Amino acid sequence: MRRPLKSPRPTSKLAAPLLKLGIVGCGAIGSRIAGSVRKELKGLFTVAAVHDIDHTRARDLAGRLDLGAEAVVSIDALIQGADVVVEAVNTAAAAGIVRKSLQAGKSVLAMSVGRLLDHGSLFPLARRSAGQLLLPSGAVAGLDAVKAAALAGITAITLISRKPPAGFFGNVYIKEKGIRLHALKKDKILFDGGVMEAVRYFPQNINVAAAVALAAGPQAALRVRIIASPAARRNSHEILLEGECGRITTRTENTVCPDNPKTSYLAVLSGIRTLKGFADHIKIGT
Ligand SMILES: NC(=O)c1ccc[n+]([C@@H]2O[C@H](COP(=O)([O-])OP(=O)(O)OC[C@H]3O[C@@H](n4cnc5c(N)ncnc54)[C@H](O)[C@@H]3O)[C@@H](O)[C@H]2O)c1
Repeated sequence: MRRPLKSPRPTSKLAAPLLKLGIVGCGAIGSRIAGSVRKELKGLFTVAAVHDIDHTRARDLAGRLDLGAEAVVSIDALIQGADVVVEAVNTAAAAGIVRKSLQAGKSVLAMSVGRLLDHGSLFPLARRSAGQLLLPSGAVAGLDAVKAAALAGITAITLISRKPPAGFFGNVYIKEKGIRLHALKKDKILFDGGVMEAVRYFPQNINVAAAVALAAGPQAALRVRIIASPAARRNSHEILLEGECGRITTRTENTVCPDNPKTSYLAVLSGIRTLKGFADHIKIGT
């Protein structure tokens, strides 16, 4: 028998209590999401607790917020006291935080989407849990259309990610291939292949690639092309899709988050918007 839909908020319109966020990771994204409870998420959320492996960061953020949020040392305590857990840590730690949250029946926004593809058991767990697993679009536009197109069938889907060569400095796969990023005069395709390999070799790109792959579904066999472009001033992502619904092209050119040049500002905003959508009674887009 189908279970009733989960209701994220109490249905009484009169005195809906603020949903409590527990934020894990007090870096660029965690701090911005915390700050958004005074602005974009005002009236919907408050911050109950924050946690960071570097406890001084958690203490500083809790102090700056001035909302009575507790800087906690234990993730378990944070999860217990939260309605929605926010993971804004890294791809290595994300799956563990998501699992614990869902097992405790709590909803969880995972910003580090990348490695979740390797943890397939999280998805059935989310379907059984009283909590919801929230995966933001992040730094790429068009996942609403990709999800809708997937219902009728996707014949081909490619993600093309382009960055200035400096965005790939330190990448082991490129070093092993002997590609000299400094010497590039024109666009160079660094990788063209399947999403699982792409996320393995290009950890810098993995959140976007994984989010598109999850939206398209496994039958769609997302192809990923990664390009170093000396002419590029911004990181960009294009989605090219063909399917029963027609043809879709999206292109996103990102500015960086002022607090972390490795993070696109749109990814931060997308995380905040996902939380707003979770709490809101009006849903726009697919
Ligand atoms: N979905 C997307 O499109 C998208 C886009 C950008 C970034 N991200 C991801 O979001 C995550 C956060 O990004 P950010 O820019 O805020 O990074 P950041 O480096 O600014 O902040 C990460 C914070 O996590 C803390 N931390 C590290 N390991 C920890 C652990 N085991 N437990 C608790 N805290 C820990 C660090 O001390 C730091 O304060 C990253 O994984 C990043 O890849 C996702």
